[in-house]
Amino acid sequence: MRQVHVITHPLVQHKLTLMRKKDASTSTFRRLLNELSMLMAYEVTRDMPTQPIEIETPLEPMTGSVIDGKKLVLASILRAGTGILDGMLTVVPGARVGHIGLYRDPATLQAVEYYFKMPDLMQERDVIVVDPMLATGHSAVAAIARVKTLQPRSIKFLCLLAAPEGVAALHAAHPDVPLFTAAIDRELNDHGYILPGLGDAGDRIFGTQ
Ligand code: URA
Repeated sequence: MRQVHVITHPLVQHKLTLMRKKDASTSTFRRLLNELSMLMAYEVTRDMPTQPIEIETPLEPMTGSVIDGKKLVLASILRAGTGILDGMLTVVPGARVGHIGLYRDPATLQAVEYYFKMPDLMQERDVIVVDPMLATGHSAVAAIARVKTLQPRSIKFLCLLAAPEGVAALHAAHPDVPLFTAAIDRELNDHGYILPGLGDAGDRIFGTQ
C-alpha cells in the first residue's frame, strides 16, 4: 500500500526490539519510547514545508531554510498517545498539541468520544495523529474522522506497532491518510492485543500494571 511507511532504520528497529522485551522496566520503556519518537518524528516530517531565511554566519550572509513548527499539530489519542509527545516535541518544540479521548462502548463496541481539544485555526495546520498501537484500528479511524471535521491542511497517522487488521481498517476508512509505523506485526489475539507486540502500551508507559 502506497500510504504505509514502515520505518526500517536500524536504530528504530533496535530500540523497538528492546522495548518489546517483557523485562524492560517502566523507566527503560519510557526512555526508549522517547528516543523512538524523536527518530520517527524525523521520518514523518520529511515533507514538511520549509521557508528560506536570510541569516549571517560568523563568516558571511547566507540563505538558510526553516520550518514553521507552529503549523504542526500532534494529536494524541489518550492515554498511550501521550507517551509519544515528549520525544516529538523535543525535535519540533513549536508544535501544537491536541488530545482525543475515546472509549469503547461495551454494547456497540463503537468508539465514543469523551474528550476532544485541538488548537484553533486548524485549516492552516498539518496534523499528525499519534498512538503507539494500531490494533483493531477503531480508535484511529474514529479519531481521524473527528479531526477531519476541522479540515486541517493534511493528516498523517503515526504509531510504533501496527496489526495487519488495523492497517486494513485505517486504509479502508481513510485511504488518503498516510500511516507511519516501526513495524507491522503478525496478528491480533482474541483480546485485541497485537502479537508478538509489546503488551499494553499504556500500562508499560505509565507503570500501571
Ligand atoms: N493496545 C495496546 O496497548 N497493546 C496492544 O497490543 C493492542 C492495543
